[in-house]
Order: sequence, then structure tokens, then C-alpha cells
Amino acid sequence: MGNFMSNLTQKIISLAKRRGFVFPSSEIYGGFAAVYDYGPYGVELANNIKKIWWEEMVQKNENIVGLDSAIFMHPKIWEASGHVSSFTDPLIECKQCHIRIRADHLLESIGVFADEKMSEEEINNLLEENKEKLQCPHCGTRGNFSQAKNFNLLVKSNLGNFTDDWKKEPTYLRGETCQGIYVNFKNVLNSTRQKIPFGIAQVGKSFRNEITARQFIFRQREFVQMEMQFFVQPEEAEKFYNLWKEKRWNFYIRKIGIKEENLKWHRHENLVFYAKDAWDIEYNFPFGFKELEGIHNRGDYDLTQHSKFSGQDLSYRDPRNGKKYVPYIVETSAGLDRILLAVLSEFYEEEELENKEERVVLKFPPKLAPIKVAVFPLLKNKPDLVKKAREVFDLLKEEFMAEFDDSDNIGKRYRRQDEIGTPYCVTIDFQTLEDETVTIRDRDTMKQERIEIKDLADILKEKIG
Ligand code: GAP
Repeated sequence: MGNFMSNLTQKIISLAKRRGFVFPSSEIYGGFAAVYDYGPYGVELANNIKKIWWEEMVQKNENIVGLDSAIFMHPKIWEASGHVSSFTDPLIECKQCHIRIRADHLLESIGVFADEKMSEEEINNLLEENKEKLQCPHCGTRGNFSQAKNFNLLVKSNLGNFTDDWKKEPTYLRGETCQGIYVNFKNVLNSTRQKIPFGIAQVGKSFRNEITARQFIFRQREFVQMEMQFFVQPEEAEKFYNLWKEKRWNFYIRKIGIKEENLKWHRHENLVFYAKDAWDIEYNFPFGFKELEGIHNRGDYDLTQHSKFSGQDLSYRDPRNGKKYVPYIVETSAGLDRILLAVLSEFYEEEELENKEERVVLKFPPKLAPIKVAVFPLLKNKPDLVKKAREVFDLLKEEFMAEFDDSDNIGKRYRRQDEIGTPYCVTIDFQTLEDETVTIRDRDTMKQERIEIKDLADILKEKIG
């Protein structure tokens, strides 16, 4: 990620802050590394993405149900899952500026790819071999790094432990949401009429002590995952794996509106400890193609491990033929924050207008737009216009996320709405007072049409879809 801070990345980060999408956490205290807050428009955008995902994964699939498991779980879960022993990244420190870096990322920056299963010794050999080429991304010093040490990414807490010794028996903030799904596999089976093949979906926070902390919302220490675990017969795992790969690819194109050329498949050559097969959908971020979502064939690893560690039999007996087996799991695991960043990058445009002014527009599909319609009085100091505009706003806010704006001049109001991606702006002018019509301006064409107030909500519904 050497070129993370490209010009476009900087513009997006600056727009995200200026217009209330993403704020650095705890900013008045100097910030808090790799943690971010969503502002008024960011939370709307994130909610819209979650809603579209939920519609596609849960609402439209009879055989997928939702779940909201707790962030804290029994610590043994993380031993069973393999996270306590194997959820590590190799960490090195620049001896000059003391910045901590992921050794595999540094090697990647010079085209050397470290195997995820490599031991500390093997990573250190690679670092030694390439010593002269390796340069600190922060201070630029060459070849002056500490030895690599595997650093566990699980975030620990003292929840439920009231002694000073809690570090010996910590509780963990979950490192992935799917473990909450596996441990509820039997609960869902017993409380619903689902039979294999079926899936469980959930959206929620995950926590990782990520070593690298300067990649905006792409790599955070607290982030949101949208995961679905599909339980299948072992013989059918490959069929469903291919099916879900196709569905998730199409989701980004058809439901989020991303151009196909901005997506790419990446197959994991070196599989993480739980996976039988793993492909990532990568997005062409301003800093290059990077992972947006992982689709994994996890085999029977998870249910076998949880059976072993909990002492509970998590195998499945098919009521249709009496066959007993440990289901395989096909997982789709997307990062909400990464989709949000992809969406900001995908729809960000700079345009030169006829009068040579430049406008910045987020050309979101209406379904994603935080605000669907803004309502303005043409002039802010004409009480009749302001009153009528408020009436129209009160009417529209019942059905859409709407915004009223009578500050500045109309040009500035349009620019502001363009920058937050509002697809339609409605203006109340003097003619409105005579004939109950308003103008509606399209964000992308900037064309205006005049329509009757009584038709406004229906027309907007049709346009927004
Ligand atoms: N349950 C499987 C799993 O967690 P993963 O590849 O580690 O797999 C899945 O994570 C997705 O979660 C990634 O594709 C990414 O979108 C998101 N993600 C992972 N780490 C993240 C981080 N530090 N910040 C933001 N998103 C992250």
C-alpha cells in the first residue's frame, strides 16, 4: 500500500470529512488510530448498503435467516476457531522511526509474496534476503528493521473478570462475526424449519489489532462485517461455492452499481488455516485492486472444532434420508466499510461546468444516496416562499430522507447536495405560489422540469425506484 495516499484518496478522505460522511475517531483528542466514526451522511449511506445486502441475502432467500449474536462470547470459542493460536500477522519495527509495519506488506511492496503459513524464521529469512531493497514507508530508511515477530490480532478485554490477572484469561472482542453463527447453528436449526442447505446471515462489528493504521476506513481496528454462512452437504459444497461466488459478484454490479471492470477475482494460493478454497472479490480502489469480500469454502472445520471444544455434537441428521454428517460451510464475508469506501470512489466525479466552474458530484444510484431529495425556497428572505417550501418538505419527509435548506444562495445549495450525492432537488419559486408547481432538478443532467406538488411524491418514488 505504498501509494495509499493518492491524490484521489486524499480528495475522498477530505470530502468524507467536510461533508459529514466519515470523521476520525476522538478527533478533539488528537484522533485514535485506525478507528473512525460515521457522520450524518455516512450513517445513512452505511444503512442503505446494509439494507440492500440484507434484502439480497435474507429477504429474497427463503433458506437464509438472520442473526444478531453478541460481540463477547465464551473465550473457548476463539481457541476452537484457531484464532488464539494462529490469527497473527508478522510485525517488524523500523529502527530509525520506530513505526510498526506488517512484514508481509513491506515484502509485497517490492514484489515478494510471503506465504500466510510461514513461520517467523521463514519470514525473517525473506527479510534478510531482501534487506537492501526494503525501505520504511514512513521515514524512507533502508534495511534497518527489527526481526519479525508474529503478533496476535485478537483484541482482549477484562469483561467478567474482576481480578488484576485478567490478561491470563482474557475475554475477546470478536475477530469475525461468523463464530457467533457457528455456535448458534443448532439453535437456529431447532427453532426454525430450516433444513440443509440453508444459511445464517449477520451484520455486526468485528475487532482486530491491525498493525497498519494509516489506511483510512479500508483497514480499521473496529469495523463492520456482513457475513453469511451457508451450511451444505459435503458433496454439494463445490456447487454452492460456485453459486455464491457468482451471486456475490453480481451483487456488486447489479445492486451496488459498480462497473464490472473495477472488480477482479483473486484466488488465495496460500489458504488460511480454516479454508479449503478461498477467493476474494477485489475492487479497484484509488490505491489499487484490494479485497472487498472473501468467499470461502470452510469445509467442516468450524463445526468439527466447536463440537470438539464444546463437547456438543454439531453434526446434522438429514430428516429426509437419515444421513448423518458434519455440514460443510460456504462463507461470504464482506466488509461494510470497504464497500462504503468503494462506493465513494466509484461514484466520485469532478466536472467542469459551462461557466468553467468545477463541481464535485457523488453520482450514487438513488437507492444508495443518503438524502433522496432536498427542498429549497428560491430566496431565503421571502417568508411566503420559505413557508411553502417547508410545507413541501413536511410532505416529502414522510416518505423519503429529505433535507430542507434555505441557507446561502441556490447555487451553493446545489453544490452542497451534489457533493453528498442527493439525486433530486426541489425548488419553490414565485410561480409555485400561483399554480402549485415546483421545479425538480436532476443531479446528473442538472436539467429542471416543472411538476405539480400533488404529483411530486409519486414522481420521486418512480425515479428513486
Ligand atoms: N469470516 C471470514 C473473515 O473474517 P476476512 O477476509 O478476514 O474473512 C472478511 O474478512 C472481510 O472483512 C474482508 O474482505 C474485508 O472486507 C473486511 N475486513 C477485514 N479486516 C478488515 C479491517 N481491518 N478493516 C475493515 N474491513 C476489514
